[in-house]
Amino acid sequence: MQPVFADVDTGVDDAMALAYLLASADAELVGIASTAGNVPVDQVCVNNLGLLQLCGVGPIPVSRGSSVPLATPLRTAEDTHGPRGLGYAELPEPNPVSETGGVLTEYDAAEAWIQAAREYPGELIGLVTGPLTNFALALRLEPSLPRLLRRLVIMGGAFDYRGNTTPVSEWNISVDPEAAAEVFSVWGAAWGLDDPAHLPIILGLNLTENIAMTPSLLSRLATAADGPSSPMSVLDERGTRSTSSNALIRVLEDAMRFYFEFHYDQGEGYLAHLHDPLAAAVALDPDIVRYQQATVDVELLGTLTRGMTVADWRGHWGRQPNAHIGVEVDPVAFFDRFIERVGRFASTL
Ligand code: BDR
Ligand code: CA
Repeated sequence: MQPVFADVDTGVDDAMALAYLLASADAELVGIASTAGNVPVDQVCVNNLGLLQLCGVGPIPVSRGSSVPLATPLRTAEDTHGPRGLGYAELPEPNPVSETGGVLTEYDAAEAWIQAAREYPGELIGLVTGPLTNFALALRLEPSLPRLLRRLVIMGGAFDYRGNTTPVSEWNISVDPEAAAEVFSVWGAAWGLDDPAHLPIILGLNLTENIAMTPSLLSRLATAADGPSSPMSVLDERGTRSTSSNALIRVLEDAMRFYFEFHYDQGEGYLAHLHDPLAAAVALDPDIVRYQQATVDVELLGTLTRGMTVADWRGHWGRQPNAHIGVEVDPVAFFDRFIERVGRFASTL
């Protein structure tokens, strides 16, 4: 069992990522940091607690992060993820006296990162699928955090690829560019350039947009959990609710329906990119992706390019590489694993 700490802005695909971690027998989810992003931080906490309650796991500590980015006002993405972050899905109310589910900690998300890393020195796998606000705050408090982690996987950025928030910037970086820049700048020194294997892994849109959930893949998941299911269709009335008898599949289908509709309206087809679940899968098994080392930095000043992640592939800056950037993935292998794990887990609920 690999201890994993997840920092999320739940979010439809964050919820799918958490479901994957909970469904993975080789992982123990030891804590969740809630970061403001797709929806405000209190809603992220509610979503995380509700999902844990639904899955009947835990108790797992859930910590509240900063309600605002380091140096810029918060923007949220209800158009993409729905008014509460989970599309059309309705989660159970968190039950504070239940033996299972999530437990909201008295300490904040930055402190939670540090506590988890100290509890599992050299073993903890860190996963960030939201803005880097709380990870940056944790680094300020504990500069040796990178050395305490076994591995860090970040979903963020777009490398030689268009953005999804501005023409050149990706959502997680765009929400808190200063946090991302701060994290990337300490990496070189803190992560130990003597050991490139220890550099963090960054998965940008250039990679994660290969992971497209479709109605037929989603119906494979439902079938694995709950018996035969027919695929959703673009012709269905908008907001049609899931009829699955499985509570987790119902939530995932109702969340995904909204995400499909958003992608459709963006001209991408009736599908949805599972950025964060790919990052969760990589956190447990980095070998499912091919990487290239580079030095990464974030543009903060450009009037047109603020929030852009720039990778110096050829060493023009004369700075040591500070990241492994994901450049190739096999989506079929990813979905086989995702459906097998989450389908089996859902069937046990
Ligand atoms: C990222 O932005 C968020 O909306 C998603 O949850 C994902 O983490 C993709 O750009
Ligand atoms: Ca996210």
